[in-house]
Amino acid sequence: MGFFSKLFGKSTTEEKAVEKKVEESLKIGIVIGSVRQDRNAEAVANWMLDFARKRNDSQVEYELVDLANYDLPMLGLPLPEEQQEESAKTIKAWSEKMATYDAYIFVTPEYNHATGGALKNALDYVNPEVNNKVAGFVGYGSLGGVRAHENLRLILGELQVADVRTAVTFSLMTDFENMSEFKPADYHEANANEMLDQIISWSKAFKPLRDK
Ligand SMILES: Cc1cc2nc3c(=O)[nH]c(=O)nc-3n(C[C@H](O)[C@H](O)[C@H](O)COP(=O)(O)O)c2cc1C
Repeated sequence: MGFFSKLFGKSTTEEKAVEKKVEESLKIGIVIGSVRQDRNAEAVANWMLDFARKRNDSQVEYELVDLANYDLPMLGLPLPEEQQEESAKTIKAWSEKMATYDAYIFVTPEYNHATGGALKNALDYVNPEVNNKVAGFVGYGSLGGVRAHENLRLILGELQVADVRTAVTFSLMTDFENMSEFKPADYHEANANEMLDQIISWSKAFKPLRDK
């Protein structure tokens, strides 16, 4: 039963149309997965956001989620008493933010053939908030960040997040100047489109599981 019918009993045709629209809408979070000073992640995530929004996908909202806005302690680290309340608030804000999305696009660095420690730690704080949701990856590195993608696939499997096949893989050598100024080649757009199509169709398909 939809929101209006729960409130008022029977819903009118107009209300049913609004309910259907709300039920079909998707919210996709683009997670900036590095907190490093001067990180490349930010430029890459902004590119992804612009690219996604320009598609004008019907009833799909894209938003950036910046890990740097959440000062998450290492999971389980004992904190001085005066920091505990603030830290608990940050952890709650992070989990609640992640809970608002139907799908995620993780913009991930590759550190030592894996995703970055900050993103791994942040993912350790969530579980039910992300179950039955969908993820895609945008990486960058000497080999396009693919080893970070594969590493994230293992982590997300445990969190019951369905990750789509197609990913965007920028080269630190050819898509950046001096490995720091982002100048992406046009050909990545084909993969970005395919990845978004897959994320949207899987997010819709998984919706009944999330609404249970
Ligand atoms: C400790 C460390 C390990 C790294 N390991 C890899 C690696 O295994 N593969 C790779 O392609 N790049 C590696 N790099 C390069 C990073 O991918 C590159 O610095 C990237 O810009 C990091 O993302 P960020 O700028 O968004 O933090 C490494 C960098 C650091 C600092």
